Amino acid sequence: MAEGPVSYHSGDQSQDSQKTAATNEQTAQMEQAYAQMRRKMRMEEMDKSIKHKIMVLSGKGGVGKSTVSAGLALTLARKGMTVGIMDIDITGPNIPKMLALEEAELHVEEGQIFPAIGPEGIKVISMAFLIEDPDKPVIWRGPIKLGAIQQFIGDVAWGKLDALIIDFPPGTSDEPLTVSQSLPGIDGVVIVTTPQEVALLDSRKSINFAKTVSLPVIGVVENMSGYTLTGSAPAGSPISIDAPGGVTLELETDENGRWETVLDVFKSGGGKKAAMDLEVPFLGKIPFDPGVVRGGDDGVHRIIADPEGSTAKAFVNVVDKVMQVVEAAERTSVNIS
Ligand SMILES: Nc1ncnc2c1ncn2[C@@H]1O[C@H](COP(=O)(O)OP(=O)(O)O)[C@@H](O)[C@H]1O
Ligand SMILES: [Mg+2]
Repeated sequence: MAEGPVSYHSGDQSQDSQKTAATNEQTAQMEQAYAQMRRKMRMEEMDKSIKHKIMVLSGKGGVGKSTVSAGLALTLARKGMTVGIMDIDITGPNIPKMLALEEAELHVEEGQIFPAIGPEGIKVISMAFLIEDPDKPVIWRGPIKLGAIQQFIGDVAWGKLDALIIDFPPGTSDEPLTVSQSLPGIDGVVIVTTPQEVALLDSRKSINFAKTVSLPVIGVVENMSGYTLTGSAPAGSPISIDAPGGVTLELETDENGRWETVLDVFKSGGGKKAAMDLEVPFLGKIPFDPGVVRGGDDGVHRIIADPEGSTAKAFVNVVDKVMQVVEAAERTSVNIS
């Protein structure tokens, strides 16, 4: 005997349950559409409530993009600004680890996610907060990833911010594309590179990406540029260092008996050359500093551990340049309109 339709008996009851199912589905769809609309409105609000939105990109991984993103955020906060950092690296979100927020629990209220509060009061949101087992690789297919990012941007209660720094996975994949298309009023892109000249090629990809999505390039930062050496000896002692390339550096200890210098380990200037060749601003150099690696592992960023050190100072220079560029761009756009 052929199998008949499963629910054929007692017609009324079946129609009722079909109706309920349809209504439930409709309600769910309406709720989804409503949530989508609210999200879109919130993203538009973010245009006004967040003064500067800065995306940080790099052509490849391991150049220190997350370190620089965190450094920019902390330095801006130390200057008295209200700052947020959004970590959109789904496969390797490491901002929470760098800022000792791995155990942070997010507070959700009325469909909005409240960011965790990091050092210097910076507001932090990371995909890592949504991942249950940090050791399990996350594989999200295109559309799901896209939806998650949009939800992620639109559902966060940032409040008023002077600046939002957005960290991405390496390269120019779906994530920066989605953010650039969903979030209005992005100031532009900061590109992180290393001193080697091959970095030029990688930077070019990021610059082309920015052009494709019509975002300004704020400039290029050369990270891991030169190695910072420090030491101590009685105050006022002469120090002589045999540097690479047969160069001798002569310095003197300061009144506290400390000395510090930066050695160009790799060929220096790749970032500056890249910026010049590609006709975008050069934002400055951040030295290679072993303290940065330690800081990344123990959750105390170098800027917090040593606010007077050469790395923290280098970040101040870079941040000043970034602000100069974005504020100049703002003035130009105000003049035009
Ligand atoms: N200026 C620096 N000096 C020394 N180590 C650095 C510096 N910048 C980054 N690093 C180290 O390099 C590694 C990669 O940095 P990370 O910021 O995670 O790169 P990315 O986000 O580009 O993949 C980390 O171990 C980090 O501590
Ligand atoms: Mg990273």
